[in-house]
Amino acid sequence: MKIEGKNYRTIWFENNEVKIIDQTKLPHKFIIKSLKNIKDAINAIKTMEVRGAPLIGATAAYGLVLSIIEKNDLSFLKKSSEDLISSRPTAINLKWAVDRMMKKLSGVNNSDILKIALDEAKAITEEDVEFCKNIGINGLKIIEDISKKKKDVVNILTHCNAGWLATIDWGTATSPIYHAHQKGIKVHVWVDETRPRNQGANLTSYELNEEKIPNTIITDNTGGILMQRGKIDMCIVGTDRTLSNGDVCNKIGTYLKALSAKDNNIPFYVALPSSTIDWNIKDHKKIPIEERNSEELSHIEGVDENNNFKRVRIYPQKSKSLNLAFDVTPAKLVTGLITEKGICEASEQGLKGLFN
Ligand code: MRU
Repeated sequence: MKIEGKNYRTIWFENNEVKIIDQTKLPHKFIIKSLKNIKDAINAIKTMEVRGAPLIGATAAYGLVLSIIEKNDLSFLKKSSEDLISSRPTAINLKWAVDRMMKKLSGVNNSDILKIALDEAKAITEEDVEFCKNIGINGLKIIEDISKKKKDVVNILTHCNAGWLATIDWGTATSPIYHAHQKGIKVHVWVDETRPRNQGANLTSYELNEEKIPNTIITDNTGGILMQRGKIDMCIVGTDRTLSNGDVCNKIGTYLKALSAKDNNIPFYVALPSSTIDWNIKDHKKIPIEERNSEELSHIEGVDENNNFKRVRIYPQKSKSLNLAFDVTPAKLVTGLITEKGICEASEQGLKGLFN
């Protein structure tokens, strides 16, 4: 998708380095950063220079390429893979990508390993672009139907950033929106700010602006009243891990939006590529929920009038806080899952119908 009219992807390989857009600086500064070794890749994931389930999966795949460039040694590669997996535990795409890479590399000669690793990392990114594009084509039908019935602008609420910045291109939740916009359907997006790191305000609104899609940032608590007053036609969110029974783990606050949508009879869709499905865990209480540094709550960063970054404390110094990064929306609150293979019910039967 575009930034200042120029097409970008979120990650690419160039001159033996991995290039990323540093998302901690957006929307104020657009900085392309080079990751030169495995430490850089892990740091980029941990500090959320890259974020969003599909993108951290791709970064982990390229991280293993960097690990091989640094030291072509099996035990170093194994250690790199373990460190990557533990760098952000909730999003399943990270483990999925590392496992896929390690399976591909097992038993490969030292002399061939770099090329095979690079090819596989590229395949993972290309596949994600294709999957996200298809999510858009499939989800477009839902927006089209609402638009035909309503004969007016379709108002869509989204939470966090499940846009192209969270993937390689297109995004998951935003892909149907981008496809609708490109088809000339009038859409407007309500963008949840998404405290504490404000991925909605800083990233979703930013990328929608760059694609000229009308959007309005709201606080995370505003969705309820907008739903009661008929200002929201549908919700689409992304997910960091969806269980085979259709339970959806996503950015903290998603569950409350789904409850409110149910109470107001508003369709609540979740968009995901198959790399986000966890076929193993059956009970959502077993999903590791990232507990992040409480300073993400107590401090806030922005820019001053000279566009210089400033970080300030906003909480009483003595107060304790709890910063859980994700919650789980039970399948019964989800209208449907929009995947690269089609739309299905949020259930084991629904998912197995699309994916064997
Ligand atoms: O903590 P983040 O910013 O990595 O959050 C993950 C997300 O971007 C969202 O939860 C998103 O909706 C799912 S990823 C497409």
